[in-house]
Amino acid sequence: MPKTRILSGMRPTGKLHLGHLFGAIANWVELQRDYECFYMVADWHALTTAFMDTEDVKENIRQVCMDYIAGGLDPEKCTFYVQSHVPEIAELYQLMAPLVPVSWLERTPSYKDQIEQLGQELANFGFLGYPVLMTCDIIAFKAEVVPVGQDQLPHLELCREIVRRFHHYYGQVFPEPHAKLTQFPNVPGIDGRKMSKSYNNSILISDDSAAIKKKVKMMITDPQKIYKGDPGNPEVCTVYYFQNIYNPDKVSEIHKGCTSGELGCVADKNSLAEAMIKGLAPVQEKRKVYEENPQLIDDILARGCEKARKAAMETLKDAKRAMKML
Ligand code: TRP
Repeated sequence: MPKTRILSGMRPTGKLHLGHLFGAIANWVELQRDYECFYMVADWHALTTAFMDTEDVKENIRQVCMDYIAGGLDPEKCTFYVQSHVPEIAELYQLMAPLVPVSWLERTPSYKDQIEQLGQELANFGFLGYPVLMTCDIIAFKAEVVPVGQDQLPHLELCREIVRRFHHYYGQVFPEPHAKLTQFPNVPGIDGRKMSKSYNNSILISDDSAAIKKKVKMMITDPQKIYKGDPGNPEVCTVYYFQNIYNPDKVSEIHKGCTSGELGCVADKNSLAEAMIKGLAPVQEKRKVYEENPQLIDDILARGCEKARKAAMETLKDAKRAMKML
């Protein structure tokens, strides 16, 4: 029996951070054994908000792909490709467009929120169509499972509605995909808010030890714990959040030390920084192989693209056949 297909991707916004690593890639790594996985870089999606400056897109695609592999995805097991290298997705987008009432798109939370936050410039046709493009990313591969963060759930809901509409008019072609949420949906940044490039609170997968030490030192701890000796609440502490990941054997001891006041934040941070540097070392070592030879990345993406196009072409044919256009 063929394996169930998984599809997910990220926009090429630059080097990835620990929020991406634990919030997404770790989840993808788990899935690569049991599913047929397509992991892409969504450069068309990046354009919907960053069309004014396309200077870095190509390099950012490479950087994201390096982080995918450094984070544990195996190019022998997964198919990596760049969205814009699979034009069949755009053709499918054209076929889907008439099925989507504009009101559905205007209601999408990310559309409304981002315009409020980033300005009217985003109120463009491409950004409005973001969820339709994402739908085509998924259905072009007949993917059934889509590992994403919580923020993407409304997009997936819309995807299913579009699929149902297609089936209503033309007959069954696509599976209705469902989301698979990650174990760590809200990785905090060093300021305690969700880790995000736009908040400038990230620790990058590729940060060197000096940067890691500096950022861990800046991490927000329990504001009630001012001096060593004050009892702290680990549940509101970013350092503690990451201790769970990087010092899992010591967390109960750390919890005890913090709540009793015996453990000070400085010592806590030092032990985290050390463990984080150690934990990221093998990831960065793997990354270095590709940094030194980016041609390897280009080759992996070219191979992936070939495979992806073959799959998308088949689906496109199925869709056109259902629409009696072939
Ligand atoms: N919108 C997703 C994000 O910002 C990225 C993305 C684009 C995606 N196409 C996709 C994710 C298809 C899953 C499936 O994170």
